[in-house]
Amino acid sequence: MSKRQYHIETLAIHAGQDAHGDPATNARAVPVYRTTAYNFRDSKHGADLFGLRELGNIYARLMNPTNDVLAKRIAALEGGAAAQTLSSGTAAIFFTITNIARAGDEIVAASNLYGGTFSQFDAILPNAGIKANFTPVNDFAAVEAAINEKTRLVYVEAVGNPALDVADIEGYAAIAHRHGLPLIVDATFAPPPLLRALDHGADLVIHSLSKWIGGHGAGIGGVVVEKGGFDWTNPKFALYNEPDAGYHGLRFAHDLPEPLKPIAFSIRLLTVGIRNQGPTLAPDAAWIFLQGVESLPLRIARHSENALAVAKHLQSHPKVAWVKYPSLTQPELAAKYLPNGAGGVVVFGVKGGSDEARKVTDAANGEIFSILANVGDAKSLIIHPASTTHSQLSDEDLRKGGVAPELIRLSIGLEHIDDIIAALDEALEAI
Ligand SMILES: Cc1ncc(COP(=O)(O)O)c(C=O)c1O
Repeated sequence: MSKRQYHIETLAIHAGQDAHGDPATNARAVPVYRTTAYNFRDSKHGADLFGLRELGNIYARLMNPTNDVLAKRIAALEGGAAAQTLSSGTAAIFFTITNIARAGDEIVAASNLYGGTFSQFDAILPNAGIKANFTPVNDFAAVEAAINEKTRLVYVEAVGNPALDVADIEGYAAIAHRHGLPLIVDATFAPPPLLRALDHGADLVIHSLSKWIGGHGAGIGGVVVEKGGFDWTNPKFALYNEPDAGYHGLRFAHDLPEPLKPIAFSIRLLTVGIRNQGPTLAPDAAWIFLQGVESLPLRIARHSENALAVAKHLQSHPKVAWVKYPSLTQPELAAKYLPNGAGGVVVFGVKGGSDEARKVTDAANGEIFSILANVGDAKSLIIHPASTTHSQLSDEDLRKGGVAPELIRLSIGLEHIDDIIAALDEALEAI
């Protein structure tokens, strides 16, 4: 936008789009650009675009004006220098890791990750020759011990799914930077304005757009935001220092034009990962996320308010053994990182075990709550992670990830709080 420092509520509505609307049509809303390719003015124009001497549209696997507005808007919300949209949060994670680490390299990650991410790191990355070393969240002695000369990045979820531990991002950033490594934060559970992880030292922030940013359970997408200015010239980042066979022998830490050097990660992700491996976000999905992001600040405040009320209610419920909600269970970290609200997810353990948790989950499946594997919808959602989202994990990994058998995860929606609480009370009568 302009030189003015706008508030997040304003950026959520305007950032990334020309103030006079769509530059081609003057349409006020962001149009969906459904095209596979873009005309070159002539061969020189095409050659300049391919040679990165001029920036512009080439082919829609790489770039699309609808996606571009979304990427710029999320970058503005996070205070980043650049962003790339991808086909899912999962793709955003995979292509971020493989944009930094290659076969023979290692990463250090917190052990309390979303089940899909854990499996990706634990079971898929090793097939590409990348080893993940997991450490308990916020155990900085363990992080320090896990970092070695092969480590290329440190990865953590801002608020872990589903155990809801708040990561001490500044602590992680201090260790990562001491070793010259980037810190990557998956902030899906704490979108702006709850958290701006780059302000706390993260170098890259990832979101699944499929959750609160979209907000309506109507699409799958992901984004990675780059703070800008990370020093990739250390030779240990071979993908940035050796001539890249994936892009005309370019050395991404050295050969980019000056204005692009600070965003070398994003340029490489676009020109190598997205261009040649194809995890592109469809522009229709980008458009849906743009509708969601406009109301994100309003929605996430209400999600947080409702979730806090649910957590407090469950704390005094006779059939509930324990409740976790960041501002109640980790008040100091939540006050530091989530001062505007602690997000829309509450987890609790019923008295009993897995059977009781499943009974309550089934009983809640009704007019307010739906049983399904998602969070961040306007509608309230419920799931028993140990038997679903995290069922691929061994008992030991479940324990390390904080996923107890009696744990139920609630994604609290935007319904009236009295209706949400009444639905939960009714469901708890099942045990
Ligand atoms: C914290 C977190 N990160 C990433 C993902 C993956 O996102 P997507 O479903 O868009 O691939 C999820 C999905 O639940 C998630 O909870």
